[in-house]
Amino acid sequence: MNIEKLFNKDVMSLDTYIMFKLKEETARLKDELTARNRAPIALSMGAPTANPPKCLTDRLKEILDEDGIHTYSTPKGEPYFRKAAAERMKNRFGVELDPETEIFSLVGSKEGIANLVRFITTPKTEELEKDVIMIPDPCYASYLQFIQCSGAKAYPMPLTAENDYKPDVEAIYHQALKDGYKPENIKAVFINYPNNPMGISTTKEYVKSIVDFCKKYDILLVSDAAYCDLYFAEDEKPFSIFEIEGAKDVGIEFFSLSKPYAITGWRLGWVCGNKEVVQRLGKGKSTIDNGIFKALQKACAEILNSEEGDKYIEEANKGFARKQAIMVKGFKELGWNMDKVPHTTFYLWLPIPRRYTSAFDFCQDVLRKSGVVLVPGNAFGECGEGFFRLSYVCSDEKLQEVIDRLKEDGFTF
Ligand SMILES: Cc1ncc(COP(=O)(O)O)c(C=O)c1O
Repeated sequence: MNIEKLFNKDVMSLDTYIMFKLKEETARLKDELTARNRAPIALSMGAPTANPPKCLTDRLKEILDEDGIHTYSTPKGEPYFRKAAAERMKNRFGVELDPETEIFSLVGSKEGIANLVRFITTPKTEELEKDVIMIPDPCYASYLQFIQCSGAKAYPMPLTAENDYKPDVEAIYHQALKDGYKPENIKAVFINYPNNPMGISTTKEYVKSIVDFCKKYDILLVSDAAYCDLYFAEDEKPFSIFEIEGAKDVGIEFFSLSKPYAITGWRLGWVCGNKEVVQRLGKGKSTIDNGIFKALQKACAEILNSEEGDKYIEEANKGFARKQAIMVKGFKELGWNMDKVPHTTFYLWLPIPRRYTSAFDFCQDVLRKSGVVLVPGNAFGECGEGFFRLSYVCSDEKLQEVIDRLKEDGFTF
């Protein structure tokens, strides 16, 4: 079969998503590493390994026996799920949303963001004719792939120490125009706080400046709030863009149940905000998926605003704080400067040791020698070169073992 003829050029140029690629590579090396007492420890995937809240799984089991629960849901989401999401937005952020018109369920936020990109861009082959989406660099690696396979341009907004991780969005917009992209093709600005892979947060003032920018140029603001419940310092508590006046005029926000409740395999999230955008995205989605399994929606609707749910998140965050402390102490002993680490997400974003020039080479060496799976920073964008990301989601003992192995194998800074 002529695959080149079958698939479009953008899809042909895609590689397997980095996390799955690393998983496959680790599986190939497993026996050899295990024989050397270096059985793989994956610090790559951003997926908590703890069990979900017991009350959630217990309730799910009960719901499975309810009449009518196994049939199609709707892509919009069952009314009880949308109502619970609206209540969560009110309880967590003080934000009012209409569950009828301003909230739509998602089969995980990855699905929602991928489809949004497809729906707001038109594939082009001519570079300067492309629709443009401005994205943080580094960013969630999937943004790059969503945009690439939609025949659009991902225009980077560098997150660097020099710009205090607050890129000047307006200056970058004008740079894109200078580069030859057309103003009418600049469709959206993506933001993601707390940020994957860096864990950084931002201020309301900065987001307000982006809201103003989006209004000025009629550009969609897309906020990815997948990590909004993962924080362990009150002064880094994430906020919703809708706490900022006028954000609903130009913005939508994506939420995920994956990380806060350790249910990455269940695939549940919601998008909310600007009514016209949410409804149009929903219409498009209705041609693709048939919604989320109703039993999952029902069990999750119940936990979203429950005391047990909040307690679970609080305890999980305490656990992440403890795990981060193990890694901070360990990397300090290995020679890294660990003075400034954010207290959000479950990621550490660190520079590669001085003797390396490539993040990929460093991560490969650590994998092959120590059996520890790290992610090279350039998988998250060009600005990520020279860095690596690790997820401290496994047990404390395993995390300590990672540090011990790195010490034994000579991986100092
Ligand atoms: C920034 C960010 N957004 C969205 C997602 C997707 O989450 P899900 O599809 O499980 O809701 C992830 C997953 O790692 C992420 O890191």
